Amino acid sequence: MEKLVSNWYSTVQSLPESYVLPPDQRPGKLIVPLCKTIPVIDLGKAVGHDQSNIVQQILDASQEFGFFQVINHGVSENLMEDTRSLFKDFFNMPDEDKAIFYSEDSSKGCRLYTSSFNDAKIKVQYWRDNLRHPCHPLEECMQLWPQKPTRYREVVGKYSVEVRELSLRILRLICEGLGLQPGYFGDELTKFQLLTVNHYPPCPDPSLTLGLPKHCDPNLITILLQGDVYGLQVFKDVQWIGIEPLPNAFVVNIGHQLQIISNGKLKSAEHRAVTNSKEARTTIVTLINPSFDSVIESAEDLVSECNPPLYRAFQYREFLQTYSASGGDTKTALEPYKLHV
Ligand code: OGA
Ligand code: NI
Repeated sequence: MEKLVSNWYSTVQSLPESYVLPPDQRPGKLIVPLCKTIPVIDLGKAVGHDQSNIVQQILDASQEFGFFQVINHGVSENLMEDTRSLFKDFFNMPDEDKAIFYSEDSSKGCRLYTSSFNDAKIKVQYWRDNLRHPCHPLEECMQLWPQKPTRYREVVGKYSVEVRELSLRILRLICEGLGLQPGYFGDELTKFQLLTVNHYPPCPDPSLTLGLPKHCDPNLITILLQGDVYGLQVFKDVQWIGIEPLPNAFVVNIGHQLQIISNGKLKSAEHRAVTNSKEARTTIVTLINPSFDSVIESAEDLVSECNPPLYRAFQYREFLQTYSASGGDTKTALEPYKLHV
């Protein structure tokens, strides 16, 4: 528990040795291009005649960057603000209130922990704390959630429902864009929804460490609320580019499963989080996942003799195991599923 960065960061003047990355993994230039070219897509226009234009924008962005931002997305701004302020309060609670949820057992339903995804493999620490729990179906999952701050279940419950609707809507637009049968993502492929909240306290030396190492998300699609503090970078054309914080936007990124289902048409891009010395950054991340038993494969409608499948079929459960063993390395994560055509 005393491991949580949010509990001790204010007592240190310099970065503890265990957080110093080997030189080749450090963030390098902290000021990277804040990329205006990561498309910002206005979902308010995804109606009537303009819908096909928005579908095209989503497809183009998912192909070129694996990332885009959405505005006028239908999630209430008050709710977004309430949720952000609630999670700030959560990480600022006294140590004993957080201790209830602290666990190093990754199988625990609701879990607060620190550093990165896979502690066993990782020798250095990362400058973040993380709270995660499932949030669909709501009534069942809610029993596991914190009850402090007092409005936790009410606010996070509403947020989870609204963000689920948004993610299913985006998936319907992607489904249309790819030319898949309506409802393709409607059932097993979106059954498991995980909320993971990253908290990066102010860091004494952002040039030597990272909040999260380079990785791709293993799930289907991710909907991230980063608020107004910069820190998310995407690897594109041999360089890191920053994602501009737009407080009322969501950042959407394509996960490994959507890359595989689309037979490589959509791209899952590598990204990471850098820290800063001035203010804490809290990001609220919704991961839409297939059920563990789902069989994932390149969609039949997207493969043909001239466009053979790039991946073999597998169970999502198997993917999660090999992903976790790959320590976040993208090539290693996809290798067992590639067909060498
Ligand atoms: C993640 C992630 C980025 C961020 O949680 O998978 O990539 O900016 N987070 O917190
Ligand atoms: Ni990620």
